[in-house]
Amino acid sequence: MQTLTIATKPIDGQKPGTSGLRKKTHVFMRPHYLENYVQSIFDGIGGVAGKTLVLGGDGRYFNDRAAQVILRMAAANGATLIIVGQGALLSTPAASHLIRKRGTDGGLILSASHNPGGLDADFGLKYNTPNGGPAPEGITDQIYEVTKTIASYQIAEAHDINLSRIGTTTLGSMQIEVVDPVTDYAALMETLFDFPSIKALFTKGFTLRFDAMHAITGPYAKAIFEGKLGAKPGSVINANPTPDFGGGHPDPNPIWAKPLVDAMMAPDAPDFGAASDGDGDRNMILGRGIYVTPSDSLALLAAHAHLAPGYAAGLKGVARSMPTSGAVDRVAAAKGIACYETPTGWKFFGNLLDAGKATLCGEESAGTGSDHVREKDGLWAVLLWLNILAATGKSVADLMTDHWRTYGRNYYSRHDYEDVESDKANALYNGLRDKFTSLPGQSFGPLTVISADEFAYDDPVDGSHSAKQGLRISFAGGGRAVFRLSGTGTVGTTLRVYLESVETEPARMHQDAQVALAPVIAAAEAIAGITSHTDRAAPDVIT
Ligand code: G1P
Ligand code: ZN
Repeated sequence: MQTLTIATKPIDGQKPGTSGLRKKTHVFMRPHYLENYVQSIFDGIGGVAGKTLVLGGDGRYFNDRAAQVILRMAAANGATLIIVGQGALLSTPAASHLIRKRGTDGGLILSASHNPGGLDADFGLKYNTPNGGPAPEGITDQIYEVTKTIASYQIAEAHDINLSRIGTTTLGSMQIEVVDPVTDYAALMETLFDFPSIKALFTKGFTLRFDAMHAITGPYAKAIFEGKLGAKPGSVINANPTPDFGGGHPDPNPIWAKPLVDAMMAPDAPDFGAASDGDGDRNMILGRGIYVTPSDSLALLAAHAHLAPGYAAGLKGVARSMPTSGAVDRVAAAKGIACYETPTGWKFFGNLLDAGKATLCGEESAGTGSDHVREKDGLWAVLLWLNILAATGKSVADLMTDHWRTYGRNYYSRHDYEDVESDKANALYNGLRDKFTSLPGQSFGPLTVISADEFAYDDPVDGSHSAKQGLRISFAGGGRAVFRLSGTGTVGTTLRVYLESVETEPARMHQDAQVALAPVIAAAEAIAGITSHTDRAAPDVIT
């Protein structure tokens, strides 16, 4: 094997965002683009000589080519072993598990998560640390610094490695171990959940529809739900992953997974419906006639997790991202456990999980997970729901109604304004911040502002400080409006407006969320002037 040192120059804009570096695929495919970033990761983590890494991705367009480049660069940089999912495929939670199980020096995950795939769509690459979680800001900052000064990268001259066969091969002195992407992950799930009682539920005729959205979870869901748990064949739909996710947008929410939502609202709906995203870390939960918001799902799971064997000892604590509703806070208060509020992005949960301060974590953006890995985990959430359904014998709708009666209901919705001109989005955001000192005490319709601030986070484990993590306005009675600019978009700026209100009167707990939230929506508009700043009459996406 010959190692080449290729001269290069820094490329602008290689700054990792909420979850690694995400760009248009054709940008990633430009000369030196991927190579510069991979070398910057290697250098930013102190080199990979003598190290072992996990490698895999969600199978989107360019996944296979990028994996071959990374293998050649890892070999040239002196790595000892790369553990690769067969076909260069691994769901994000399965990659996190492999990193932990095999005690590696971290891993590289090829994914742009729920963003569409294809030449003109999105691609992404992120580095996860040895704990299995996304690199924290300290490390992504180091990587970014290297991208600004890089002058060369190392790459081996070699033919493509055959990644379709399980087993070990070599590239120079580096070993490449190709593993089945599903086996270890499925085994982990079996240790956490009561598979026999979930199986018994299916034997009794319980019905499931899981929409894999033509993405990575298809093979995992088939093996676990249909293979191990006995769900009827065909319960998993869109199960074959394709590089463009069937031309769709693999984001499990009521907009992009509308066919599933429609099926679940029909009179002959299955008992339980769920979906996951491009790389398998997000989830959507539905019952017959009911959509469960991710914030409510987190709260319900926190309330009942002890019914699953892996969580029988109870929860050490829970954590949610700041924009996620306060529903889980009420469960934590009732159980007398800690509840942490972190900035958006799974990387902020890692320290809490490592330190044993939290067992369950969640985000309003369809992410739920626990300390079993260091990523959010779509199939895990579905399995915990199934375990709870099996243990209680109740329907999803009944579980949610009981939950709201016990803890109150946090109505919740997110309004996204996509591809807004960055200047306009910044003007809205900065203008809103400028108003903050005068807002408390002011009323907007029936709502009175009690506080307005820009969220900042002091990590209780390592003391790191993260500033500028979103603007939040709290109203008397528990309502909130939160404003953030997305850190994962690849074009323009996405403004996210998160809306929440609290209902404790059972007679009002079954309204349409947009109706229940109308006063908060109106107050958010009155305070921030969304329409005038963005020239948009309505959000592009409501979840
Ligand atoms: C979005 C979500 C966030 C999630 C991230 C990665 O980030 O809002 O909760 O962690 O995707 O899946 P954003 O685009 O808002 O920065
Ligand atoms: Zn994802």
